[in-house]
Amino acid sequence: MAEISAIILAAGQGKRMRSSLPKVAHAVSGKPMLWHVAQAARGAGVAEIVFVLGKGREKVLGVVEEFGGKVAIQENQLGTGDAARCGLSVLSSRANEVVVLCGDAPLVRPRTIRGLIAARRRRKAAASVLTGILPDPSGYGRVVRGPDGTVARIVEERDGGPEIRKIREVNSGTYVFDRKFLRRNLPRLTDVNVQREFYLTDLVVQALQEGKIVVPVVAGNPDEVRGINSRKELAEATEVLRRAKIDALMDAGVTFPVPDGTYIEPEVSVGADSVIEPGVVLLGKTRIGKGVRIQAGCVVENCRVDDGAQLKPYSVLTDSHVRKGAILGPFAHLRPGVDVGEDARIGNFVEMKKTRFGKGSKANHLSYIGDSIVGKKANIGAGTITCNFDGLAKHTTVIGDGVFVGSDTQFVAPVTIGKGALVGAGATITRDVPPFALALARVEQKNIADWVIRKMPDLPRKAGLKIPPPKKKA
Ligand code: UD1
Ligand code: MG
Repeated sequence: MAEISAIILAAGQGKRMRSSLPKVAHAVSGKPMLWHVAQAARGAGVAEIVFVLGKGREKVLGVVEEFGGKVAIQENQLGTGDAARCGLSVLSSRANEVVVLCGDAPLVRPRTIRGLIAARRRRKAAASVLTGILPDPSGYGRVVRGPDGTVARIVEERDGGPEIRKIREVNSGTYVFDRKFLRRNLPRLTDVNVQREFYLTDLVVQALQEGKIVVPVVAGNPDEVRGINSRKELAEATEVLRRAKIDALMDAGVTFPVPDGTYIEPEVSVGADSVIEPGVVLLGKTRIGKGVRIQAGCVVENCRVDDGAQLKPYSVLTDSHVRKGAILGPFAHLRPGVDVGEDARIGNFVEMKKTRFGKGSKANHLSYIGDSIVGKKANIGAGTITCNFDGLAKHTTVIGDGVFVGSDTQFVAPVTIGKGALVGAGATITRDVPPFALALARVEQKNIADWVIRKMPDLPRKAGLKIPPPKKKA
């Protein structure tokens, strides 16, 4: 395909969002609206993207950078025509065609943009316009067709009378232009209309004056033309993408017993024969393998979960890796930087952070394991805590292969436990333990005979115990 450039109009403030954030920075499915539009342009094969930005542009510079785009600044929002003019002045490629997209229409798909490009070329038109037939077209510009079916005019709702309002075919704000036509005609736009703005849509009439045509392409799926102007429309757009994502995953062999109760962002991948149960939230670049079971209420962000692993209910994982066959939860918490080895077990109320947890190792109950390296087949008893922070710096705990840690142990880091060692329950470990040693670190137990009978006889009495006669002192 010949080189093609895109201009994304995104300088509008979006008053109806009632927000301090610029409209295009608001998230649809976890990504700024603008990101979705740029992604569609890229997917359609566009080489160069110019973003027309206004106030609050610093909030979306991340998107510009991600797509290697350029910024055109539109200081005053004088209308879509003025915005396109700003964008065109910054284009550097020599492409003969320009796709113009609205930053607030995030549901447009690459395939549709490609269709729009092809339609313009086929008819050698000045432009092609993506339109949609909507049950409720209110708020949109309406497409008036000429006798030959091409576009005769696009009229904004506010500028048109009742005849115009009856038209259900709307302008999506997505176009492909012949670049020379655009360059010639943008400076000729005027702002003689209700909003006193330079309308990009007035180019239609200018094309006809030049003896050229503007071809309409009706979107197969009317969702694609949706412009987002309010929080309600923002939620509706997220819902469209959520449902499309889940449908695609079901087609690829993933089971969702209750698809409507699950939220999955667009970049997540899930392998075949995995089961995603109700209330699960999968975010960011999470990659789930095959045959994985993720149970109710789990929240997984930017993680890898390998084949055959299982996340029991209400586990929360961020920036971590769970290897094959490992089982986590219920109520496991992996903070960033955890690597759970194959077939390992992480049980309820276990929190981990920056830890490599070896193959086949277990930490089944109530623990905090942070800044640690745990070997293979180690057993971490209930209530084990790594004391990794001394108030100023973080320190590492190293636990060797096959170490057995008794319950309620604290490791005061930095500390290393040699392989095969045994740590007795209730220890506070402050020094390294050699391999295969027994480490005991607790106050020795003292039993004082009949102390309760002598000092607190009411206590057993309250429990209905018969008090035995005191034993003679030895
Ligand atoms: C526009 C179209 C309308 C179409 C609708 C689709 C015009 C005149 N109207 O109306 O026909 O049905 O989109 O959603 O084009 N923008 C700028 N600078 C400006 C003005 C707007 O960058 O000075 C950007 C906005 O950020 C937005 C896009 O252009 O991303 C559309 O602007 P908006 O004000 O939402 O136009 P609509 O009234 O929705
Ligand atoms: Mg709009």
